[in-house]
Amino acid sequence: MNKAKRDAIIAGNWKMNKTPSETTALINEMKPLVAGADCKVVLCVPFVDLDAALKASEGSNIEIGAENCHFEKSGAYTGEVSAPMLKEMGVKYVIIGHSERRQYFGETDVTVNLRTKAALAEGLKVILCVGETLEQREQNITAELVAMQTKIALGGISKEDAANVIIAYEPVWAIGTGKTATAEQAEEVCAIIRNVVADIYDTDTAEAMTIQYGGSMNAKNCDELVAKTNVDGGLIGGASLKAEDFSVIVKAASK
Ligand code: PGA
Repeated sequence: MNKAKRDAIIAGNWKMNKTPSETTALINEMKPLVAGADCKVVLCVPFVDLDAALKASEGSNIEIGAENCHFEKSGAYTGEVSAPMLKEMGVKYVIIGHSERRQYFGETDVTVNLRTKAALAEGLKVILCVGETLEQREQNITAELVAMQTKIALGGISKEDAANVIIAYEPVWAIGTGKTATAEQAEEVCAIIRNVVADIYDTDTAEAMTIQYGGSMNAKNCDELVAKTNVDGGLIGGASLKAEDFSVIVKAASK
């Protein structure tokens, strides 16, 4: 597999953090630190912060994403936000299927697939999250589980649309826990995902797809992780809320 064939992306996932004014301040702090990065830089922020994030990032190399979107274009879905709404705002990316959505908000592989299709239909780039729990890892079903999540999520999605999918391998046991997967574990599962993508589509599509690692990636452990052949950057939670730490990770992925 040839890393040069694809973009490394460092994407922040702010989760439920920062108000609009705090968003403006943090992005203004980040802009000079990540300017000139040799990887893509994305910040996925809460819906109410999107407007502030888009304004603050204007003219910079930071692109903005949302943290979820619904699978219908509009309708009686109280509290939800649709892909056309995000598109009209100028949002470029959306995270779909984050393990916190699966764990706390009843997302299933099927709704992840529907949401992915809806986002792609609007031309948004999808950061599709897959990953096993600790129990599943200990049961030795990581490969099957992650393959199944990937296959269901990409079901019915054309090769052309798959070019707008980024997969984030996020072992649930590593998210927000300070327990990072070793670079070898991350590489192993990202390579498995890439083979699954090659099976669904073809080798070219798999080689061109950005597959990130996520889960307690930080300024200290990022170098080793992003250096791996099949790890094309990261989805960063906690460390994306600190400008300095986030910029160190962006620099690691730019090497
Ligand atoms: P973390 O979160 O970096 O805080 O572990 C990663 C994620 O949930 O995307």
